[in-house]
Amino acid sequence: MFKVGLIGCGNIVNSHVSAIAHVDELTVTAACDISEANLKRMCDKTGATGYSDYKEMVKNEELDLVIISLPHALHREATCFCAEAGLDIFLEKPMGISSDDCREMIDACNKAGVMLWVGHPQRYFPTNMFAKELIDSGELGELVGFDETRNCEYFTENRPKWFLTKSMSGGGIMFNLGAHALDKIKYFCGDEKIAFATGSAHIREGFDCEDSAQGFVKMANGVSGTLNLIAHTKAYRYEDILYLTKGEIRIANGEVYYCGEDGVFKTQTFEIVHDNFVLQLMDVVKALKSPDKKPAVDGDFGLDVIHAIKCIYGEEK
Ligand SMILES: NC(=O)c1ccc[n+]([C@@H]2O[C@H](COP(=O)([O-])OP(=O)(O)OC[C@H]3O[C@@H](n4cnc5c(N)ncnc54)[C@H](O)[C@@H]3O)[C@@H](O)[C@H]2O)c1
Repeated sequence: MFKVGLIGCGNIVNSHVSAIAHVDELTVTAACDISEANLKRMCDKTGATGYSDYKEMVKNEELDLVIISLPHALHREATCFCAEAGLDIFLEKPMGISSDDCREMIDACNKAGVMLWVGHPQRYFPTNMFAKELIDSGELGELVGFDETRNCEYFTENRPKWFLTKSMSGGGIMFNLGAHALDKIKYFCGDEKIAFATGSAHIREGFDCEDSAQGFVKMANGVSGTLNLIAHTKAYRYEDILYLTKGEIRIANGEVYYCGEDGVFKTQTFEIVHDNFVLQLMDVVKALKSPDKKPAVDGDFGLDVIHAIKCIYGEEK
């Protein structure tokens, strides 16, 4: 049994804790948050011992794994501290607020010989796993292009305020939701590296982060893709299109629509046995039990995503 400590007990931790209930090898024994209310809610839910300081938690508790779900600017310090303490780490996406931050985390984890898994859970959606199998089968030819459009209300009342403060979040919709799109294009390309990225982000007057952004990325294998993320609409749309030499795959509304050279679309629907957070943690456990503890999504992967977003912003080259 691996003992888990939670660092940050906000919104996303609910998904991790619900998932842990389906993963026999994980148990939450400690939790930390500076918000008394969030900490109490999580301790009541899990029976964990609560702390307001994660350094105290790490010193006092015998933990195997920490799940870090903090505002993005705090990822680096917490990850480096836990690595130095010899703990394996699951770190929520996006990995950090700059490429330098990510490199520091990678170095700290390598030096300490601990696992660093960056949580990019959308590859565990049944739609995306089905699309990946279809691509890998070769039935529709070779993947040549990717396009994501995501329209949603981003600046909602219940979004924690730090997401809208660039020094804490690293950026707006592209930083937060674009990280998922870049995870997907990398996943569909066999975890290929991003060779080039550019784009543009629009920050409205009075705001600190962008609410709409467009990106263009080219993968090392030549596949290219566009990202169009728009945050000021109630007209929800979330669609990925994959262009192949002999067909097309569209992912939307929890379904996959795909066609071959005849252009006639078939629809694939899904029955969900385990949600994507359960599947992700099952893979984390597999890695923890393996001799080399190799994560499926490691620090270099997380860094590649952050660097591409920073290039889209024009803040890194
Ligand atoms: N994988 C996904 O689909 C997904 C979805 C949402 C959020 N996330 C990611 O999860 C992370 C957290 O996001 P969230 O939505 O849960 O945010 P949140 O604001 O709800 O939670 C963050 C928590 O961290 C606590 N905190 C802040 N400073 C702290 C400190 N020094 N020590 C201990 N606790 C501290 C806050 O009080 C809060 O409870 C981010 O990286 C975010 O991008 C991922």
